[in-house]
Amino acid sequence: MTSTSEAPAPAGTSVLSVRGLVKHYPLTQGILVRRQVGAVKAVDGVSFDLAPGETLGVVGESGCGKSTVAKMLVHLEEPTAGTIAYKGEDITKLSGKAMKAVRRNIQMVFQDPYTSLNPRMTVGDIIGEPFEIHPEVAPKGSRRRKVQDLLDVVGLNPEYINRYPHQFSGGQRQRIGIARGLALQPEVIVADEPVSALDVSVQAQVVNLMERLQSEFGLSYVFIAHDLSIVRHISDRIAVMYLGKIVELGTDAEIYDHPTHPYTQALLSAVPLPDPTGREHRERILLQGDVPSPANPPSGCHFRTRCWKAQEICAREEPPLAVPAWFREPGGPTAHPSACHFAEEKQIVPTDLEPGPERRDQDPGPGPGAEPFGGSGGSGGSGGSGGSGGTEQGPGGSTAGPPPGTGRPEDDEGPAGPAPS
Ligand SMILES: Nc1ncnc2c1ncn2[C@@H]1O[C@H](COP(=O)(O)OP(=O)(O)OP(=O)(O)O)[C@@H](O)[C@H]1O
Ligand code: SF4
Ligand SMILES: [Mg+2]
Repeated sequence: MTSTSEAPAPAGTSVLSVRGLVKHYPLTQGILVRRQVGAVKAVDGVSFDLAPGETLGVVGESGCGKSTVAKMLVHLEEPTAGTIAYKGEDITKLSGKAMKAVRRNIQMVFQDPYTSLNPRMTVGDIIGEPFEIHPEVAPKGSRRRKVQDLLDVVGLNPEYINRYPHQFSGGQRQRIGIARGLALQPEVIVADEPVSALDVSVQAQVVNLMERLQSEFGLSYVFIAHDLSIVRHISDRIAVMYLGKIVELGTDAEIYDHPTHPYTQALLSAVPLPDPTGREHRERILLQGDVPSPANPPSGCHFRTRCWKAQEICAREEPPLAVPAWFREPGGPTAHPSACHFAEEKQIVPTDLEPGPERRDQDPGPGPGAEPFGGSGGSGGSGGSGGSGGTEQGPGGSTAGPPPGTGRPEDDEGPAGPAPS
């Protein structure tokens, strides 16, 4: 269970330990002399641990700071304050060779497979690019083979190595992004909305692929998404973010079945339920107003301007992310950290009607290819292509997709490719 204290987790128990992470972007004014007049508080004190092999889901409205956290984890942004420890070592102060060595272990998969791949590079060059920076992982003579192994691992035909991104469908492109993320054999993958840009059926295939890769290679994931059903399906624990802060943190059952923070309850009340009975039984909580500007967040509790339970103390005192004293009975489902002065359990989705993965197949998906998460339906796994039902087809049919009947093991239920060793 995640610690919410400021002490880092003991070395060896967490692969990542984040404490008090802050990112403030300066707001400047003036033409000749620019002076700082404020700051966008994109991330404002985020702490969590990530255990080996664990998936931490991160959810929250647009602009709450999810991507900024992700970018700091992979060192695309410098934190304004706070620490990120990789296996007990603070990596925020590292530079040069030491940083390069650590960065190899924490890789990112980006949201938009249509823009995140360089259209002028072949997939071989895209996937193999990290080897230029880390030649020790794949010396020059072995790179083509390694890239082909990686294509195989993510369910794409190794013969695609000389194709360009436009010759692939969205789901196939995201597989290329995942292959690139795997190239350096990382321990942690930070996936920033990896399936948001994809069709429902393709989302399921990519999520299933990520789950398979996780168990095959022992990966830990930080998985960012808007869709609470997907996050529940893939995550061991979930962090709910609002305006730069984590407001509730717990296992999937704690967050979905026993939410205690009003914001989490409001988010859950908006999850689409395909079952009309579920919709009837579920209380809708409509939040008033817009999310305040992160340049000028409310005092005390950031959520107070939209919270129906707010009282005077909420403007005065910021509630810490901690297990509320009145929930501390050991093992109780509500005994998880919640940043609310008046945290109380409220069941939003009746547990027997919750939008679990088994219900995804009832979503009005695109038809052929729609499959439940979990892929228990035999051939309905996360196949990339191959011409059979339930798989992704590249645009342009035979141009992008493999020839029918190639027998590629591109289905999640099929034989796994060789490890990217
Ligand atoms: N480089 C930047 N300069 C100034 N403000 C920024 C910068 N990058 C992000 N922000 C602001 O920081 C806040 C958090 O942005 P972020 O992209 O992390 O949100 P997000 O939760 O990922 O949103 P979304 O769900 O839309 O992707 C937003 O208000 C955003 O406008
Ligand atoms: S601390 Fe107050 S304003 Fe914030 S969520 Fe709790 S009740 Fe609402
Ligand atoms: Mg984002």
